[in-house]
Amino acid sequence: MSRKKKELPLIENVEIVDIAAEGKAIAKVNDMVVFIPYVVPGDVIDLQITRKKNKYAEGKPVRFVSYSQNRTEAFCEHFGVCGGCKWQILPYAEQLKFKQKQVTDNLTRIGKVELPEIQPIMGSEKTEFYRNKLEYTFSNKRWLTWEQVKSGESFDNMNALGFHIPGMFDKVLDINKCWLQDDISNQIRNFVRQYCFDKGYTFFDLRNRGGLMRNMIVRTSTTGELMLIVVFYDDEKEQREDLLQAIAGEFPQITALLYIINQKANDTITDQEVLTWKGNDFIYEEMEGLKFKIGPKSFYQTNSEQAYNLYKVARDFAGLTGKEHVYDLYTGTGTIANFVARQAEKVVGIEYVEDAIEDAKFNSKNNGIDNTLFYAGDMKDILTQDFINEHGRPDVIITDPPRAGMHDDVINVILFAEPDRIVYVSCNPATQARDLSLLDEKYKVEKVQPVDMFPHTHHVENVVLLIRK
Ligand SMILES: C[S@@+](CC[C@H](N)C(=O)[O-])C[C@H]1O[C@@H](n2cnc3c(N)ncnc32)[C@H](O)[C@@H]1O
Repeated sequence: MSRKKKELPLIENVEIVDIAAEGKAIAKVNDMVVFIPYVVPGDVIDLQITRKKNKYAEGKPVRFVSYSQNRTEAFCEHFGVCGGCKWQILPYAEQLKFKQKQVTDNLTRIGKVELPEIQPIMGSEKTEFYRNKLEYTFSNKRWLTWEQVKSGESFDNMNALGFHIPGMFDKVLDINKCWLQDDISNQIRNFVRQYCFDKGYTFFDLRNRGGLMRNMIVRTSTTGELMLIVVFYDDEKEQREDLLQAIAGEFPQITALLYIINQKANDTITDQEVLTWKGNDFIYEEMEGLKFKIGPKSFYQTNSEQAYNLYKVARDFAGLTGKEHVYDLYTGTGTIANFVARQAEKVVGIEYVEDAIEDAKFNSKNNGIDNTLFYAGDMKDILTQDFINEHGRPDVIITDPPRAGMHDDVINVILFAEPDRIVYVSCNPATQARDLSLLDEKYKVEKVQPVDMFPHTHHVENVVLLIRK
């Protein structure tokens, strides 16, 4: 006998009170925290509980009783369905306030270390079209919005080119206009989709694995260079060549037109052969006259203009005079290492992606920088006491770890190395706070500067300067 699903309550007149960690808006109902999407603090709603756990619940608004003063119109037609830009109904100044609070809360509650006054968050000048990279997915399982389903219209063509629906691995939202990347990205995506529709090309079936068109990655640069990577599943030479030729004809501004035939289970391209159809197999990004080569697989900070501001904060906190021995941990393609190299005596960069280290070395050479050294490997295996003894004690350590923060062994080696200054760049203030408390036995937090790299999302970057006690 099937168990009847318990009906969950609908609660009237609930006020949204705050935004919690991970950017979810919350209400409190009888001391129970309820997470609710697409609402902002100050909204009053009739709330349908959709999921109930012991300590929290999830819900959705079924009616707005009144709207918050701190609310603005969503600018994107895909808002509410697409997983990106969830905070666009909060005015940008409010978004910054919540990000500032997120940093303060994490550093005080988790870090529990003595803090100076936290500097006001550095907002992003560009709040739209700020990304330099977007990846689109082709799927034969188009996500239909509630309005489309209700319209009764029949949808014969279920192919879509756009973004995955959060939590549904095979459903893709067809995107008409995205506000994240320069409009050329919209033009290319819409052209490619129309071309594929007109020619009857098949879109990828994620469940059963089959179809011609799989993914598409657009990378733009402040230099005006433009990269397009088209990822096919089926190896159909004639169809592939017709499409690439059509794209090259329509968009002569593409400086690197590349393609991949990816027949493995997942979409990652790091282990795939990238073939050049037209132009270069890279683009350049530029900062203070330094040129950074970006290949199809290279990591580069996705908001280029704000990355420059972030790096300037890091360099300023490092307090370089030209005499310092600097370590740049988690160096990626060596962007920070090369950015500070002219103000330091020597810079050692460490990173585990070998290709990224090759890019880092190329970037030094190509910019005439000869005081950098790069090593590839897991940080906890490379950065050991022996490594410090061999390469010399650093005066300054700049560290920019992934969201998980630093491994305990890495923190212990930093404590052993005893640099005068540590500049800690983080994309996750919670793990940064944990690491600061571990460094507290020898280091005092001197400055804190939050930076917003991703407007309309809850993500925040934070730079902390630690000095030896
Ligand atoms: C936030 S990114 C920093 C990139 C770089 N600082 C920049 O601004 O372009 C973190 C980097 O750490 C690297 N990484 C992650 N885990 C690592 C580990 N255990 N050992 C070494 N590097 C690691 C990643 O590959 C990535 O390049």
